[in-house]
Amino acid sequence: MEIIIERDAEGVARQVADRFESVIRHGGRFGVTLGLATGSSPVATYQELIRRHREEGLSFGHARAFLLDEYVGIPRSHEQSYHRFIREHFTSHVDIADELVISPDGQAADPVGEAARYDRGIADAGGVDLQILGIGGNGHIGFNEPTSALTSRTRVKTLTEQTISDNARFFDSPEDVPVHVITQGLGTIMEARRIVLAATGESKASAIAAMIEGPFGAFCPATILQMHPAVTVVVDEDAAGELQDAEYYRFIQRQKSRLEG
Ligand code: GLP
Repeated sequence: MEIIIERDAEGVARQVADRFESVIRHGGRFGVTLGLATGSSPVATYQELIRRHREEGLSFGHARAFLLDEYVGIPRSHEQSYHRFIREHFTSHVDIADELVISPDGQAADPVGEAARYDRGIADAGGVDLQILGIGGNGHIGFNEPTSALTSRTRVKTLTEQTISDNARFFDSPEDVPVHVITQGLGTIMEARRIVLAATGESKASAIAAMIEGPFGAFCPATILQMHPAVTVVVDEDAAGELQDAEYYRFIQRQKSRLEG
């Protein structure tokens, strides 16, 4: 894992946006497939990418995107559907074709079949070149809650009470938060060629420490990323607050910038 500790959320957003930009600029005319996440963590990165699109000509014209997850049972027009969220916060502000921003259908008559279909769709598209992730306070990625199979594919999951209460801030009341979701599985996420996980704030510090330094296992699903050969974790000082070996990660960063500089 490459671990980058930035002073603040803006620094995190710039680092993550740099990785998107690099994949997009080197993607060639056959295009790139981006893996997009929702939640509040990636929003600053999306704002930075929108700025680069408007001010620096960064084009998403050869990109397509797959979302990580979606709530089951709310329509796409719902304010909190991830289908709508990603459009409002990112894709409708850049030049990516709307029909190429693909997410699971949370209102499918057969959600189990829809999840399997979605999983095949990602593989049929040639897989994801760069996946952005956030992390839940309990170590979930996508909506792979603790005890998710480490090889799992896209499927229907039941949220934990913690995630329901964490996400209740976006809904009128906790009762309105859907209990079921369709999420890419950990095995599906691991097939992305590169992964960048962004986290900011003290509330993510223990999940970040568990993911990077904790024992590998399904009780902290994000620890699966320890097995991926091309993961970058970008955190601010607050989210890095519980890392035991933070000085070593900073030392590596300094050596790297000396080599590059
Ligand atoms: C959500 C999403 C995840 C996200 C996480 C953290 O429920 N399914 O993809 O990473 O929980 O959200 P936030 O970034 O708002 O803290």
